[in-house]
Amino acid sequence: MAVYPNKVSIFEVGARDGLQNEKPVTTKDKIVLIEDLAAAGLTRIEAASFVSPKWVPQMADSADVLAGIARHEGVTYSALTPNLKGLELALDANSDEVAIFGAASESFSQKNINCSIAESIERFAPVMELAKAKNVPVRGYVSCTLGCPYEGEIAVSEVARVSELLYKMGCYEISLGDTIGVGTPHKARKMVEAVAEVVPIDKLALHFHDTYGQALANILACLDTGVSVIDSSVAGLGGCPYAKGASGNLATEDLVYMLHGLGIETGIDLNKLATAGNKISQALGRGSGSKVARALSE
Ligand code: HMG
Ligand code: MG
Repeated sequence: MAVYPNKVSIFEVGARDGLQNEKPVTTKDKIVLIEDLAAAGLTRIEAASFVSPKWVPQMADSADVLAGIARHEGVTYSALTPNLKGLELALDANSDEVAIFGAASESFSQKNINCSIAESIERFAPVMELAKAKNVPVRGYVSCTLGCPYEGEIAVSEVARVSELLYKMGCYEISLGDTIGVGTPHKARKMVEAVAEVVPIDKLALHFHDTYGQALANILACLDTGVSVIDSSVAGLGGCPYAKGASGNLATEDLVYMLHGLGIETGIDLNKLATAGNKISQALGRGSGSKVARALSE
């Protein structure tokens, strides 16, 4: 029998990874979502993204979102920061933590952040330095860990190399992104095992988009490697604006249902979570992308 962790820490990305690639909602809708997520028991919420508003207009109100939420004690509100300018804006907005985001694919790096992998690492250095001086933890994302929309297959050695670089720069956790959701269980596990040779397994997180419906299976295949942090998106919101056709991350409701079924604690109230997801889906004018949320509301 596989040995799973007793507890999994869920890192909720719906308000950022989700809403960055949905039609725009109001700042108030975002604030309500983030407050609902905290009320449902989520303690790690990616709430904002300080990227160029020309590149991602949906995130242009990030400072207003962070200013408008009633902050729950014990909840960490984080933001994406691709460069020093992003970090400065995130600090002004009182982000509890920030994230830099790199890629294991050169083409994706160019399309997403307009620079090569090597240039991105150079750009991240002053971000790490200032964040450290301000005592703000930095998370690191690696995109295209199981495939790239432009290059196809990506070597696991490249995923491990970029992950190690970000970890050695001082990221407290490395989130492994299957940006376009093309991975399958054995490949996902092999990728995680390869990265775990250079970054401690307890510093890794899984960030699997569900484009091909594989995310839950991929997570289950990795769950006995020792990884115990999983990113997901309430109602399956979103995608990636620079990865055509990519759908949202695995829906948090579907993840929580599976984890609870396996006897794994999450600290999350599934009904409240589904209500939060249904509310933002309504604001978007469509049904929830979570199968579990749909089943619960029948
Ligand atoms: P650039 O054009 O190369 O930047 O973009 P630049 O430094 O040459 O600056 C150009 C203009 O942008 C200037 O303004 C800057 O001030 C402004 P202008 O003088 O023209 O008026 N600018 C900024 N404005 C606000 N915030 C900033 C910022 N930086 C520069 N931080 C840049 C480079 C990185 C900014 C751009 O490419 C960008 O914003 N990219 C973000 C793309 C993005 O958000 N993608 C989605 C998130 S990643 C993702 O979803 C994957 C993930 O979920 C993991 C996975 O699934 O794999 C994390
Ligand atoms: Mg993502």
